[in-house]
Amino acid sequence: MTQAPTDPRPVDFRRHGFGPAPEIAAVREADGVIRVPTPFGPSAWLLTRHADVRAMLGDAESFRNGWTPADLPGDARDPRQITGDRSGNLLSLDPPDHTRLRRMLTPEFTVRRMRRLEPRIVEIVDDHLDALERRGGPVDLVSTYALPIPSLVICELLGVPPADRDEFQERTRRQLDMTASASEKAASAAEALAYMQGLVAAARRDPGEDLIGMLIREHDEDLSNDELVGIANLLLVAGHETTSNMLGLGTLALLRHPEQLALVRDDDSAVGPAVEELLRWLSIVNSGSPRLATRDVELGGVTIREGDLVSFNLPAANRDPEAVDDPERLDVTRRVTAHMGFGHGIHHCLGAPLARMEMTIAFPALLRRFPGLRLAVPDEEVSFDVAHPIHGLESLSVTW
Ligand code: HEM
Repeated sequence: MTQAPTDPRPVDFRRHGFGPAPEIAAVREADGVIRVPTPFGPSAWLLTRHADVRAMLGDAESFRNGWTPADLPGDARDPRQITGDRSGNLLSLDPPDHTRLRRMLTPEFTVRRMRRLEPRIVEIVDDHLDALERRGGPVDLVSTYALPIPSLVICELLGVPPADRDEFQERTRRQLDMTASASEKAASAAEALAYMQGLVAAARRDPGEDLIGMLIREHDEDLSNDELVGIANLLLVAGHETTSNMLGLGTLALLRHPEQLALVRDDDSAVGPAVEELLRWLSIVNSGSPRLATRDVELGGVTIREGDLVSFNLPAANRDPEAVDDPERLDVTRRVTAHMGFGHGIHHCLGAPLARMEMTIAFPALLRRFPGLRLAVPDEEVSFDVAHPIHGLESLSVTW
């Protein structure tokens, strides 16, 4: 097994277009598994095939999330500054704590619960479309549509006051910025944590109808204050940029495939399958949290030893020809089954029903309001955001 020429960082869309980096796709076609350097110190196995990634994510007993640098050999570092504190961060927990917190949260994110949010999401989307129409093109669709809509939705869900929302967005970007230095990241994580502590303290004095208020009213005895702060922080970070990046990149993908765009615009029944296909084809989360093997496991033709780190590449897995016919083709009419754009197993995205609902509303609404939607700059000038572990666009200049 050779050392990969690259670590599992986001692919540079300016060089490669959508999909996995060519060297990662080549690994999938060859051995399927490779050793890669990691920012933690020790190297990791990188899984690229659909079946291997699915098997690994589906086996939370053999592969755990709740490791710390102390579990790694040598002088390991921990650059995972997602929340600054691990309490309540589902992605760094294993059962039974993970199960306990997931059980409290899952009822709040069911499809049925999301239906109640639907009218408000439609209203938020329409307000933003009205503002775009008044303003006229060209506009940057990321800052005027793709980012503010999911941001507003998650802030309302959690009870973040309107006055704090802009500052919040900026802080989230800094927290996820892979180009930031360790001290810059630590500073933004500490700021975010302090903000959340304030929000939770205010909710304790006067619990509202939002998610934090509900957790305080219904689960206070099984939830520590640190866990509540951690949950709120994770939901804000996880719910912010992901959906926003899907809306931005998804719009660009549709603009590049006008016949597919027309289907989404003109046929209600095409929207649901199109959202799934965009999730598969774009796979905006490059790789989720690395797992630590708790025992020796044979996977993808190699023996993963107890104590080894295991990472995975979702864009490669979601375009694996063993799992999907003609995987490189964007086809919104295909019935995608078992894509892993939202992950798989016990850490499968908690916010998936919310993200699906937002996309199901926001894509067709945009395309119907502006049937002449088109790029306002040459395609090669579109600015991709390659500094983040979640693929996205810096801006998308459009007109109509
Ligand atoms: C987990 C993708 C939107 C909250 C995940 C994972 C993926 C993902 C791939 C699994 C990571 C891993 O296993 O290492 C996405 C995509 C989204 C999206 C593509 C948008 C289209 C959201 C939203 C929320 C959210 C809107 C919150 C409201 C979470 C949480 C987890 C998670 C809390 C951790 C779950 C756990 O560990 O049990 N997401 N996500 N996500 N996501 Fe999302």
